[in-house]
Amino acid sequence: MKHLEENIERVLLTKEEIAAKVCEVAEEMGDFYKGQEVVMVCILKGSVTFFADLAREIPFPAVFDFMCVSSYGSGSVSGGSVRILKDLTVDITDKHVVIVEDILDTGNTLSALFEQLKARKPASLKLCCLLDKPDRRTKPISADFLGFTIPDEFVVGYGLDYNEAYRQLPYVGILKRSVYEK
Ligand code: PRP
Repeated sequence: MKHLEENIERVLLTKEEIAAKVCEVAEEMGDFYKGQEVVMVCILKGSVTFFADLAREIPFPAVFDFMCVSSYGSGSVSGGSVRILKDLTVDITDKHVVIVEDILDTGNTLSALFEQLKARKPASLKLCCLLDKPDRRTKPISADFLGFTIPDEFVVGYGLDYNEAYRQLPYVGILKRSVYEK
């Protein structure tokens, strides 16, 4: 992974810090759901790593499902609504549902997705995010369960990408500006 690591300015969150936080978030969710069954929705692709780690720590019965969405707009600023590229396979009506995301940025993707899923009448709908970048928020949305609040830096690793690369890094790192300002 040397070729990837050369492009990392610095490590923002280590593998160990993330692992400890995942356990804390799982415990908090456990206190909230109190043994009820929950549909955990992994939003592809960035959440895969967080989802897989979190899912192995949660103390309540869970059903896993996956969605792939694409926000309209281009570049690093997402648009105002989402297109569903892959939908859930389970019916979430009357179920407790938690969306698991890697990052809450402008909030455009998640606020639109939230509305779409709420229309399916789940018993409850919550949002769990590993990272929150509040400086970039344009929509009034916040995570119900949160890992870390981070500064407005271009972060990659632990599922997060730049042009589909860097997802495999085991930590969250800040990408060198020279990589994306070429
Ligand atoms: C990321 C992330 C959220 C969204 C957050 O996904 O997983 O879905 O962007 O941005 P927003 O708050 O500004 O809407 P991305 O579109 O990069 O896709 P990926 O998960 O496949 O990498």
